[in-house]
Amino acid sequence: MGTNDKMPLLLVDDEEDIREVLGLSLQDIGYTVYLAKNGEEALKIFNEKQPPIVLTDIKMEGMDGIDLLRKIKQDSPETEVIMITGHGDTDLAIKSLKYEATDFITKPINDDALEVALRRAREKISTREKLKSYTTNLEALLKEKTELQDHLSSLGLMIGSISHGMKGLLTRLDAGLYDIRIGVEKKDYDRVEEGYEIVKDMLARIKKMTLDILFYAKKRDLVRKKLDVLGFCNDVVGVVQPMIQNQQIQFSQKLDESLGEFEVDADSIHSALMNIFENSIDACVEDKQKKDHHIIFSVKKTRAYIEFFVEDNGVGMDKNTCKKIFTLFFSAKDKKGTGLGLFVANKIVQQHGGLIEVTSEYGQGSCFRLKIPKKSS
Ligand SMILES: Nc1ncnc2c1ncn2[C@@H]1O[C@H](COP(=O)(O)OP(=O)(O)O)[C@@H](O)[C@H]1O
Ligand SMILES: [Mg+2]
Repeated sequence: MGTNDKMPLLLVDDEEDIREVLGLSLQDIGYTVYLAKNGEEALKIFNEKQPPIVLTDIKMEGMDGIDLLRKIKQDSPETEVIMITGHGDTDLAIKSLKYEATDFITKPINDDALEVALRRAREKISTREKLKSYTTNLEALLKEKTELQDHLSSLGLMIGSISHGMKGLLTRLDAGLYDIRIGVEKKDYDRVEEGYEIVKDMLARIKKMTLDILFYAKKRDLVRKKLDVLGFCNDVVGVVQPMIQNQQIQFSQKLDESLGEFEVDADSIHSALMNIFENSIDACVEDKQKKDHHIIFSVKKTRAYIEFFVEDNGVGMDKNTCKKIFTLFFSAKDKKGTGLGLFVANKIVQQHGGLIEVTSEYGQGSCFRLKIPKKSS
């Protein structure tokens, strides 16, 4: 509150003369004055107007000044309450200080004493306000600093893990190129083909990894657009099917009829789903126990959500692994994994206000459920 604002003040006294005279002089020195003739009325006005300063007589019929002081302080400890005491009310005055009255002035009221008491009250109020704004700023600064630190340290971790992952990928890229060169030299086209497959595979992985990193390193805002869920699902299936073609995996889809529309950042939800499909394919390929593998993509509509299910009968996970899969850089696929996929997918889904759930059984398979709100809330 600036010094030019009229500060509200509640004056409580059972003597009409005092209310009138004191009320006027308080108005003259710049307060907006509310008057009450007893404790009950004072409380009512206090609750309504919340004045930062209350000036109250100590001895009143019914609820006296001390009771009023206690009630006000109970609900609103920051209110400055100045007590007006008569001669010989020393005991009461001391008692009021115990209940944290700001000050007390004695009747008949001397203007200077009143001004001193009011100045003290206002100083306390403004100190508290300054302190509050410092604290809020400090809290905001601290929060920013912590976030920055978190981001930096995970970026550091990330660079370490990327360098490690890249080294592996580049070595294999070299090997692929070597195959191609030797194959061309010796006119061994099978070898060229082999090399080409390796190079293609490595390039795809490097590309994927780069995209994941970009997504993570750059805090981007979602661009939500309204779109047809079925069309979106068909796009997803269009990308997944060719990925599965060369593997011995059967793919099927169960899409609800009339899935309607939802409002999402299509690119990011698409890549979240891709990360999950990639894992399911890996899980099926890795599984040497079962002969037939399948991945089922189902999509359901509820009142407020679109739910995607990706189910596989691949290697599955034990409980311990299940707990860690959304952690940045957690990967159980030694050289092949980056541990970014599910971390990123989870981020994306959370950014949309949704959630990912997993059920999995070691040796049996896994089911990932993505629950996405149709609209941003
Ligand atoms: N469908 C699945 N079946 C079995 N394990 C899975 C499945 N999806 C994820 N996982 C486990 O979660 C880990 C983390 O996945 P992700 O974050 O995509 O990293 P990455 O695929 O690079 O290892 C995987 O290494 C794997 O152990
Ligand atoms: Mg993955």
